[in-house]
Amino acid sequence: MNVLGIESSCDETGVALVADDGGAAPRLLAHALHSQIDMHQAYGGVVPELASRDHIRRVLPLTRQVMAEAGLALADIDLVAFTRGPGLAGALLVGAGVACALAAALDRPTLGVHHLEGHLLSPFLSADPPEFPFVALLVSGGHTQLMHVAGVGDYALLGETIDDAAGEAFDKSAKLLGLGYPGGPALSRMAAFGDPAAFALPRPLLHSGNLDFSFAGLKTAVLTQVRKLGSNVCEQDRANLAASTQAAIVEVLVRKSMRAVRDAGTRRLVVAGGVGANSELRAQLGAACRKERVRVHYPELALCTDNGAMIAMAAAMRLRSGRAQPAHDYAFDVRPR
Ligand code: KG4
Ligand code: ZN
Repeated sequence: MNVLGIESSCDETGVALVADDGGAAPRLLAHALHSQIDMHQAYGGVVPELASRDHIRRVLPLTRQVMAEAGLALADIDLVAFTRGPGLAGALLVGAGVACALAAALDRPTLGVHHLEGHLLSPFLSADPPEFPFVALLVSGGHTQLMHVAGVGDYALLGETIDDAAGEAFDKSAKLLGLGYPGGPALSRMAAFGDPAAFALPRPLLHSGNLDFSFAGLKTAVLTQVRKLGSNVCEQDRANLAASTQAAIVEVLVRKSMRAVRDAGTRRLVVAGGVGANSELRAQLGAACRKERVRVHYPELALCTDNGAMIAMAAAMRLRSGRAQPAHDYAFDVRPR
């Protein structure tokens, strides 16, 4: 069974083909990605209308590329999966529309996938996939959640952010520091030259006793420091503030993840979503997990941020688990929120 996956929730168009031939796990045959970063950079953030238009331009060429790489014809596709949400409504509609049109033309079923479930199951695309059950830290631009994952579709929310997501904290702080979009990688690069102890920034909800997060206060603290430094701020100050911001976000994520793992009584942690690409987070989590003898799994670096492979994989895994109901009517909808 060959599953085509289409991701178009935000600023990356991703298409991929996953095969499930009854082996240990479905496997990735090919994937292609187009990032709109260069296009949105001039505006300092994602412009939804431009994003939708660019998805339209890219999705079919990427689909052709994936089929060619896999050495298969469109007729070899058995199911077309797409990101149903959350994301930008117009952007989601492009992926959903193309997926349903293609499926209708091929007389195949479709499956709408939750974007976060795609991230959550993306480590199964790696050479060293996790085993169930595990605790997952989902850290993207829109979400920060800790989950207990007993199996495919069997998810319990342990805690989440009550305001900004971790990725948002990176992005907004980066903006305050005058760094470009996307802010996370930019702030992380600058932080490499700074002293993480230079500024005392808050660690919100670190001692709250639960597994919830809050990052809005951190952004305000960064703004206060930026104002204090004023216009004659030097490069070293900016690097120090970047490093201190990153240290605050990473410390909270690491401490809460380790507490979640301890509470759940499991020895496996999965980290997924764009912020999972952050090297300081990986280093700190790695150290904490070694100390507590917890195994930590990540998706391949290239599959941390949005991509079609995770959508095809999530669809294939849901089908396998018997939890999915593929649709045959091609009357699609999207769920932006
Ligand atoms: O999962 P993702 O690609 O899209 C969403 O579903 O939101 O995550 C994007 C987020 C952005 O906030 C971006 O700044 C952040 O992930 N990000 C990073 C890094 N790479 C991406 N944050 C910190 N360090 C990175 N290396
Ligand atoms: Zn995402």
